[in-house]
Amino acid sequence: MSKKTARTSPARNSTTRWREADTRHHLHPFTDYKGLAAEGGSRIIVSADGIHLNDSEGGRLLDGMAGLWCVNVGYSRKELAKVAYDQMLELPYYHPFFKTATPSSIELAEKLAQITPEGLNHVFYGSSGSESVDTMVRAVRHFWNLEGKPKKKTFISRIHAYHGSTMAGASLGGQAVMHAQGDLPLPGFVHVMPPYWYDFGGDLSPAEFGRKAAKAIEDKILELGAENVAAFVGEAIQGAGGVLVPPETYWPEVQKVCRKHDVLFVLDEVITGFGRLGTWFAADHYNLTPDAMILAKGITSGYLPLSAVMMGDRIADALIEKGGEFYHGYTYSGHPVPCAVALENLRIIEQENLVEKVRTSTGPRLAERLAELLDHPLVGEVRSVGLIAGVELVKDKKKRRHFDPIGKVGISVRDHCIANGVIIRAVRDSIVMAPPLIIEPKQIDDMIGVIRKALDQTAKDMVFT
Ligand SMILES: Cc1ncc(COP(=O)(O)O)c(C=O)c1O
Repeated sequence: MSKKTARTSPARNSTTRWREADTRHHLHPFTDYKGLAAEGGSRIIVSADGIHLNDSEGGRLLDGMAGLWCVNVGYSRKELAKVAYDQMLELPYYHPFFKTATPSSIELAEKLAQITPEGLNHVFYGSSGSESVDTMVRAVRHFWNLEGKPKKKTFISRIHAYHGSTMAGASLGGQAVMHAQGDLPLPGFVHVMPPYWYDFGGDLSPAEFGRKAAKAIEDKILELGAENVAAFVGEAIQGAGGVLVPPETYWPEVQKVCRKHDVLFVLDEVITGFGRLGTWFAADHYNLTPDAMILAKGITSGYLPLSAVMMGDRIADALIEKGGEFYHGYTYSGHPVPCAVALENLRIIEQENLVEKVRTSTGPRLAERLAELLDHPLVGEVRSVGLIAGVELVKDKKKRRHFDPIGKVGISVRDHCIANGVIIRAVRDSIVMAPPLIIEPKQIDDMIGVIRKALDQTAKDMVFT
């Protein structure tokens, strides 16, 4: 069909038309294109309010994933739309290159410096987590050059980590399927065991295993030589890797190992920032003081693209005092509209006490209700902190054995959940959830009720080997 014919074809039901055009022209992220087309195309989401999404065929779904772990204050907040509208009329765009700045980007930088942990006082803006991961990689390598240690260039991260989709982000990430495409990781990125007790813990107790997983980082530093290692980078809880909540013994030990070997310690808080764990940041929950922190997603509750690297004083001082011009930046760094929306988003989180609500009410409720699922034959483990959770689906609870091939059960439970009106996600054979922080306890009960039903349906209608 010629391009012209496609555009002028007769009017059809809009869902059908959107699906056809989507299949014809739109390459989605993380999608098997042929598979999607064979299934009849995408579900078209047309509107949303609170914690619910509406699709083009009248379906209504509870969004147990807050979009992609980002819509912290929920959908359709008029306050955020109004701030964006007003900012667009006042100053729709200007950049912070060449000795200029805009009020909203300055005020947001000041606010972020206030609410993030001690020692993180400078902000470098981007528009996505991946971009900010790249910014961090460049800044860290530049830092070690400025310190006169040009060999300190290798980054250590973990298997199953997710740090974005750019070349550096995907290299830093520990996703084998991503590495298999595009010849990754790039040189200078190595991966160690994640603090994933269920799969890697063997006979050790979680506490013992937490120390072992931290020691894997130290062993890697020693193997490479500390003089060659730039930084260790980790998500406080590995989200896209399956919501891997580390044993309590892990993080204190990791921070100690990094300090001992003068390896920078970088926390990726793209998912865990802005209240998800019941603290402003995971660093507060785990009592950590990283040298740099990556922020995105919840910074604007996903309403507009914005991300940031919080640079610790050690890195920032070197860049400022010794770095000269930092040849790095993006057209949309510090864009005034997302920065204004971020400020309003943070005001809403504060005014509605959402961080406290997660810590004292909805987080504990989710944990309690998830624990009840442990009596289900498919459920091997439940993991949660605040409003982020994973449920490990297994063939043999005692031996902690997964189904073979791994991945089918997770997808089955996910699909049943969606068919029953709740969006959750599957990662290997875990299902994961991270609902908006405005979710009410009763809605958590509803979500868990649907998950149990989906588990029952999966157990009933599939035969696993
Ligand atoms: C921990 C973490 N880091 C980085 C990213 C990449 O962020 P973005 O998709 O905005 O590039 C993600 C995205 O899910 C993430 O979960």
